[in-house]
Amino acid sequence: MDLALNGKVALVTAASRGIGRAAAERLASEGATVIAAARSQDRETEEVGRGGIVPVVADLGEAGAGSALVEQVREEHGRLDVLVANTPGPKLSPALELTWEDWTGAHDAMLRPVVELMTAAGRVMVGQGSGAMVLVSSSWVRQPAPAGVLSAAYRSAQSSFVKSLAGEIAPRGVRVNQVLVGATGTERMENILRSKAETNGTDRDTELDRVVADIPLGRWGEAHEIGDLIAFVASDLPGFSTGSSFVIDGGAIRSAH
Ligand SMILES: NC(=O)c1ccc[n+]([C@@H]2O[C@H](COP(=O)([O-])OP(=O)(O)OC[C@H]3O[C@@H](n4cnc5c(N)ncnc54)[C@H](OP(=O)(O)O)[C@@H]3O)[C@@H](O)[C@H]2O)c1
Repeated sequence: MDLALNGKVALVTAASRGIGRAAAERLASEGATVIAAARSQDRETEEVGRGGIVPVVADLGEAGAGSALVEQVREEHGRLDVLVANTPGPKLSPALELTWEDWTGAHDAMLRPVVELMTAAGRVMVGQGSGAMVLVSSSWVRQPAPAGVLSAAYRSAQSSFVKSLAGEIAPRGVRVNQVLVGATGTERMENILRSKAETNGTDRDTELDRVVADIPLGRWGEAHEIGDLIAFVASDLPGFSTGSSFVIDGGAIRSAH
């Protein structure tokens, strides 16, 4: 399926590995020029399929980093057609054990950069009269998981922001959607499994079996599957969708809506 992304300029954040990297690779393979931001970048600019990936260094935890990234892309590439707003995941902890520093840290890493990125990108895209933004979120926003309170709380705020922004700028040719991701095999998930194994006195495979037991499809997702969906949502194919949530979780969310 041709996603008609050839020649588009895309910014993907938190994109040196995992889901962000997979989204960058799929967008580039479709012919987009992808600016891929992360704190550490040991890669060179790469040709991928018909497009390319240009690595840039940015720490989303720093105030102003999101807006500065959008401005950099606009200056260097003259436009911005696609924004994939991905952030680092928050600390996992029971609510009663969180400190106020944990809350402000998660705010600074997850909510502030999304608001900054989408506001700055929205201004550029409204000026162009076109563009698509995709927020990378989690199935935990619908079905909170144990120790996932920071994720659920800040992703709920992100969701409301996406919905409001989508309604505001839809008449000006810009779409804003989110992808709710379930358990996916990335470095973050490997760290989570190791940490659970340590706490529970088990091993990584036992903890993986427990995660998978809650997934009707009987496995976790692969990062490239999430990247494929993100690229599809960012393309014009679902052009009648805005303010929407696209779920990819192997059936883990149990509610019908
Ligand atoms: N994997 C899952 O099962 C799953 C499920 C639902 C939702 N999610 C969410 O999806 C997002 C990505 O998860 P992932 O599994 O792909 O994680 P990952 O494999 O750990 O990758 C995280 C990415 O974020 C970048 N990053 C970390 N801190 C950053 C910062 N301060 N500024 C800029 N970039 C930063 C990392 O690069 P550097 O270290 O080089 O900066 C890396 O590229 C997270 O929000 C996660 O909670 C994941």
